[in-house]
Amino acid sequence: METKHWQIDVEADLNHHPAIREAATLLREGRLVAFPTETVYGLGASATDPEAVASIYKAKGRPSDNPLIVHLADEQGLKDWVREIPESGCLLARRFWPGPLTLILPHRGNLAPQVTAGLPTVGVRIPSHPVALALLKNSGLPVAAPSANRSGKPSPTEAGHVRTDLAGRIDGILDGGATGVGVESTVVDVTVTPPVLLRPGGITLEMLREVVGEVRVDPGLQEERKSPRSPGMKYRHYAPRGEMWVITGEGEEQVNRIQQMVDEAVRSGKKTGILCTEEHASRYRADWVVVCGTRSRPDTIARELYAALRRFDEVGAQWIAAEGFPPRGVLYSVMNRLSKAAEGRVIDPDRD
Ligand code: TXA
Ligand code: MG
Repeated sequence: METKHWQIDVEADLNHHPAIREAATLLREGRLVAFPTETVYGLGASATDPEAVASIYKAKGRPSDNPLIVHLADEQGLKDWVREIPESGCLLARRFWPGPLTLILPHRGNLAPQVTAGLPTVGVRIPSHPVALALLKNSGLPVAAPSANRSGKPSPTEAGHVRTDLAGRIDGILDGGATGVGVESTVVDVTVTPPVLLRPGGITLEMLREVVGEVRVDPGLQEERKSPRSPGMKYRHYAPRGEMWVITGEGEEQVNRIQQMVDEAVRSGKKTGILCTEEHASRYRADWVVVCGTRSRPDTIARELYAALRRFDEVGAQWIAAEGFPPRGVLYSVMNRLSKAAEGRVIDPDRD
């Protein structure tokens, strides 16, 4: 299959853009189109077309018990697919939509069954990226869209990442440049009281609590061994091919511990990589030192994270040490992704 590539100038009049119209037509015909959102690139298909939804799972190599997020252009369409919106859901939607928040809501049973993987609930979000919104509006569809990566790879934050993973397997890619947030949307189950955070993401736990007060954290997020309630959280995710370790701790101690571990890996003949912020980059010696954002702007760490993780596969790093962070604000999401990439190999020099 030939994969079309449409370069989109995000400043243009997108609602009448020929490429977006073409992409919307493809979606209506049951085809697969990747598009940028403010978080990561999504792989879209009509959420009411069972064959189109099945082809998403096939293109990604995704386990079929992992439900998809339905993307809508605006709240008007919500009632067509969702039975009711609890009070906490209304408050969160009003404050954070359009934006990087997914609400788990009870569905009406009229979406393609594979979208929800047989659950009585559906994840819904209204993205804020102009290309995503124009595509959703033009298609007139609810669009099921997981991140547009091969299952198990980091989510794509550039169209090039999508091409690497899915060229020849999907019908087209709308290229709107690099995404902004860099980690996926925050997933919150609002069918229960108090609401439960299932996946940390672009909207922080602190921001959620400011709007609805108490928010519980799914025990599966804290305790790797328990079975998490968001089915997607149980799979090996975001993993580079090399063996990765995350080292937390403050300043000197963190730098020294990381360099020690890397030196050891070098002695055992491994090609090594280090993932660190700008502040410490000049302090390290390894085959590849990949810089990811700056500590003075935690949002830049989230934004650059997945491209940095992909870099280690591009160069062929066999052993990787990554700087960890205190899990506050968006860095809570970053630590969640890092610890998954490292399959739980997180070291705290203060404790270990
Ligand atoms: O930022 C994002 O959310 C991106 C962009 C493209 O919108 N999408 C994304 O989709 O990250 P995906 O499929 O990679 O992740 C969806 C997550 C999975 O962890 C899945 O298990 C969870 O949402 N999820 C979806 N529906 C659910 C439901 N009914 N109950 C619990 N978790 C659900
Ligand atoms: Mg994903």
